[in-house]
Amino acid sequence: MVDNRLNAGEGGNPIPRHIAIILDGNGRWAKKRGLPRTAGHAAGAENFRKIATYCKNIGVKYLTVYAFSTENWTRPKEEVKAIMKLLDKYLHEAITTMERDHIRMRILGDVSVLSPELQEEIRETNEISSRYEGFQANICLNYGGRAEILQAAKRFAADVAAGRTEKELDEAKFGGYLYSAGLPDPDLLIRPGGEKRISNFLLWQCAYSEFYFSDVLWPDFSTEELDRAIAEFNRRERRFGGVK
Ligand code: FPP
Repeated sequence: MVDNRLNAGEGGNPIPRHIAIILDGNGRWAKKRGLPRTAGHAAGAENFRKIATYCKNIGVKYLTVYAFSTENWTRPKEEVKAIMKLLDKYLHEAITTMERDHIRMRILGDVSVLSPELQEEIRETNEISSRYEGFQANICLNYGGRAEILQAAKRFAADVAAGRTEKELDEAKFGGYLYSAGLPDPDLLIRPGGEKRISNFLLWQCAYSEFYFSDVLWPDFSTEELDRAIAEFNRRERRFGGVK
């Protein structure tokens, strides 16, 4: 059962239950320092660890990050390899620390094309996560919003054809076919790195999310920046299409 309440943060301000972040600007961060792009990704991954810990401590329930899109395979081979190596490193580390910290982790996306080692690590993190309640980090990997909606439609059609489900469909039932099944929609979507677009991220789930854009490059996106985004979120009036 999904908990729909917002936590009260410092000063009584509500803390968003679910924050989604597009990790953008790693390459430019590295270039500014005369470093290879892969160094930017390493700094970005380290910042993910820092921000995830902070989110857990302030009472955010779900943090979902866009780490690798279905389009990112077109990047130079060496860069893709370096990102996969980082994912391997952090998943391996997660497996050893999430039991201690009671952190849940889930991978959203088509993982069938990833290396057998990564797939095994993903299986292990899912298994450990199933034993806990509490903060959950979601990493979108080989993820695309349109691809997610398409695979949901295909699986639903296959279930109908096989007689496994009735042909009636509503939003809640369709949501159960998405990679994000069981997760509440993001309250706040943050895009650092200066671009102001959604880039095929959580297209279905962000229907009513508040968007926050920042020019700060992801590896520099600090806990203070996150506080600023949450403060801005609290100044917004969410109407979900109604009037207040
Ligand atoms: C976008 O920046 C970033 C990526 C495509 C990769 C993000 C991946 C990681 C941080 C590594 C692993 C992640 C986790 C969660 C452990 P960009 O390269 O497009 O930056 P640019 O726009 O400045 O070139």
